[in-house]
Formats: sequence, structure tokens, C-alpha cells
Amino acid sequence: MLKKKKPFVIAIDGPAGSGKGTVSQKLSAKLNYHYLDSGSIYRVIAYAAQKENIEPGSINSLVDLVANSNIKFTAKNIWLNGDRVSDEIRTELISKFASEIAIHDKLRTAILDYQRSFCKLPGLVAEGRDMTSIVFPDADLKIYLNASVHERANRRYKQLISKGNDVNLSDLTREIVKRDSRDKDREVSPLVIVKEAWVLETDDLSENQTVDKILGLFKGI
Ligand code: DC
Repeated sequence: MLKKKKPFVIAIDGPAGSGKGTVSQKLSAKLNYHYLDSGSIYRVIAYAAQKENIEPGSINSLVDLVANSNIKFTAKNIWLNGDRVSDEIRTELISKFASEIAIHDKLRTAILDYQRSFCKLPGLVAEGRDMTSIVFPDADLKIYLNASVHERANRRYKQLISKGNDVNLSDLTREIVKRDSRDKDREVSPLVIVKEAWVLETDDLSENQTVDKILGLFKGI
């Protein structure tokens, strides 16, 4: 009997500003794979919660909000109940709120199947904090992208300034350090380096060099 073909999954985790987003997008485009930016799901929920005046600690209201929201990804945009929210979810305020709501087990469970629904043939590049550990524990290739706090804050600074935001590098560095500890020290699905993961330090690598390194690992499988 013919064996059913399974999508090839590349799972990429790493802290804020490690370059996961751009690297994963480029990788998925090169391979013609699907792409999951799991952080943006937390961001959309955070954005919706903020609009509804729901506190980050109000877990039941957050779960209700997820059940009643229509989150959609198209090639270049993210939509919430028919509104384009691609830029609105990228502010520092939403970064913080997303990290605060991400501590809830009930919320994480509520979006688990949705995240897994992105896994389709021929393959998927999924990035976030728990892609290698919880969402795709059987991924074919697992990567942990890292960079120093200094480098990550600088990248974020340049990114936000280029979009016309008024930001301060030391405030950004402080926020990244706080977000790191919330994402790594939480009880549920913390950011960890799983033992099968290839750890790539990206301080001295361009995005394209990082993509090439991952492609090299991919070809070696
Ligand atoms: O990747 P990002 O910076 O857009 O993610 C925003 C926040 O969402 C991050 O600080 C923690 C949370 N998050 C998470 O807990 N698990 C994921 N898989 C992705 C993001």
C-alpha cells in the first residue's frame, strides 16, 4: 500500500528579535512551503483584547474572545474580523501584552489546533517560542535562533524607526530583557532549547546567511 505523504515541518524557536520572522519567511518562500508566524496569533488576540478592555489576566474573557474572533492570514496581511491589522499588532505595547497573555495554558490550548492546521503539503516553516517543543514536537528539522540582547535590541530599534515609530534604544533593551524572562521563565510552554535543535547564533550572520545555514541543514537530512 502507498504510504501517505506527510508535510515536511521546519520548526524555528527563538527569543524576541532573533530574526525568526524574516528568516522563516525567506525560507518558506525558497522552499515553497507554508508559513506560520505563531507570535502574530498572540499579537492579534492581544490587540483584540486591548480594544475590548480585557485585562491580560482575564483568562476566561480571553478564551471567549478567541472563540468569537475571526483571525485570517493572507499572503501579506493579517486580518481580525475583516479588518487588516498587520501593522497595528507590531507595536511595543502589543508585544508586551502578547507576552503577558501567552502565560495562560487555557489560551495556548485554545489555539493549538489552529496553529497545527497550517501544516500542509508540501511543508511548513513554523516560528515562535514553542514550535519545537509543543506545537510540532515531531518536526523534521528543529532550529533555535539566538542573538545577544544588544544585537536584538538594535535590530528591533532599526525596524521600528524605519516604520516611523518614536523609540528609545535603552527602553527597547529593557523591554526585550523583560520579555525574554516572561517567555523563558513561564510555567507553561516556556521558550526552551530542545535537545534535537540546531542552535544558530546570529549576531554575526545576515538574514540571508542564516537562511543559507538552515537550507544547508535541510539538504543534509
Ligand atoms: O514572536 P513575537 O515576538 O511576535 O511573539 C509575541 C509574543 O507572543 C511573545 O513575546 C510570546 C508570545 N508567543 C508565545 O508565547 N508562543 C509562541 N509560539 C509565539 C509567541
